[in-house]
Amino acid sequence: MAEENLPHTPGKRIAIIAGLRTPFVKQGSAFKGLAARDLGKIVVSELLQRAGLDQGPVEQVVFGQVIPTPTAPNIAREIVLGVGLPATVDAYSVSRACATSYQSVVNLAQSIASGNVACGVAGGAESASDVPITVSRRLAQALVESNRANDLLRRIAAFKQVRLKDIIPVPPPLKEPSSDYSMGEAAEKMAKENGITRQAQDEYAHRSHKKASTAWNEGFFDDQVMHTFVPPDYNVTVRDNLVRNDSAPEKYKKLKPVFDRRHGTVTAGNSSPLTDGAGALAMMREDKAKAAGYTPLGYIRSYAFAAIDPNWQMLMGPSFATPTALQRAGLTLKDMDIVDMHEAFAAQILSNTQAFESAAFAQKRLNRSQPIGKIDWSRFNISGGSISLGHPFAATGARQILQTLKELRQVNGEFGLCTACAAGGLGAAMVLEVD
Ligand SMILES: CC(C)(COP(=O)(O)OP(=O)(O)OC[C@H]1O[C@@H](n2cnc3c(N)ncnc32)[C@H](O)[C@@H]1OP(=O)(O)O)[C@@H](O)C(=O)NCCC(=O)NCCS
Repeated sequence: MAEENLPHTPGKRIAIIAGLRTPFVKQGSAFKGLAARDLGKIVVSELLQRAGLDQGPVEQVVFGQVIPTPTAPNIAREIVLGVGLPATVDAYSVSRACATSYQSVVNLAQSIASGNVACGVAGGAESASDVPITVSRRLAQALVESNRANDLLRRIAAFKQVRLKDIIPVPPPLKEPSSDYSMGEAAEKMAKENGITRQAQDEYAHRSHKKASTAWNEGFFDDQVMHTFVPPDYNVTVRDNLVRNDSAPEKYKKLKPVFDRRHGTVTAGNSSPLTDGAGALAMMREDKAKAAGYTPLGYIRSYAFAAIDPNWQMLMGPSFATPTALQRAGLTLKDMDIVDMHEAFAAQILSNTQAFESAAFAQKRLNRSQPIGKIDWSRFNISGGSISLGHPFAATGARQILQTLKELRQVNGEFGLCTACAAGGLGAAMVLEVD
């Protein structure tokens, strides 16, 4: 029996006292001039002001980004110093691919639970528009050698092995170094091995856009998403710009497969898009939060991470992390009033939901006699997910946690599950509760 890994006792619970995100926007659009750290600063600054935390008592910021910025490797510290928090506020950065803000939230939760930190901010920011373009290994070596040389002749000689092709800039690789697949190819493999049809994927993607569009039009996101003024002109971005209000099933059919052009089923329509954005959550222990006058949005009851062979079905992490998180919460899938599963690809969602319901999967892969549980689609990703809202890798977990807490309030629910797959065969799951 997995034991609880965060306190369940009232008063000691880990409270989320406030949360916020920027709009999530298409790569190369409204936020193309901003780096991940700019987006992080924008969201944390506004969160602190809205929550009345700008004058204290924040003691630590834990933040993440997935696409690295070589010139500013510790985004958390950049945020602290950039938003006017005291220089004495501690800060460190984490990375766990698409589950990065699960990791930043968990690290802060554990620091709060142990008493090391009283109040902190956790989250993630991503700029898919600001990717590090590097140079070839040979040119990099020559540059380092030349820099170390102490006379002009040696400086020039350092480049004698460099060929014309070595001068071409190197974009970030699309494939993972540790597996044979890109994320899209992994989704294709899962679609084929799990019998997920193109039609089912397209229907799911259409559903995601419909839900997101309705939620935006009903004002559900208004207090979760800040208005963002973008320099140099300070034009304001108010909404996620990837949500399609005009999503129509026949349009999906026309799109060509991207990752297996001849036999594939994964298209731009049924994939999460490359996205810019940031999200942040302020956290305290329940008793301290209430004593300070905060009404928590909700609490983190448990979490779990899982790791599987990325060469098998890389994006199945939710099906491995969820049963452990539920067990640590002392609950079952049936108890979840809301489920938010990160939508990397429709093929990945449908593979995982199939696995949740499968007794054979439970026995073979989880060594459990019972399946994780039946999906209640009326509780599943009810305001859209990463396909429609967008997926700024490191910020998605913060978006899911905040959105789930708000959805729980909307439906008068008590418990919610957030779960995500991540590159490298990783998975994350978190059980949330509201009073
Ligand atoms: C799939 C992917 C390659 C598509 O990139 P892209 O080609 O730049 O995507 P676009 O947004 O330009 O869409 C391509 C076309 O499909 C259309 N399209 C996309 N979604 C659509 C939808 N829901 N309905 C109708 N048309 C749609 C676009 O309008 C565009 O049409 P156009 O060429 O006529 O302008 C890219 O989004 C990607 O790499 N996603 C995966 C990200 C990833 O790996 N995430 C990790 C998950 S853990």
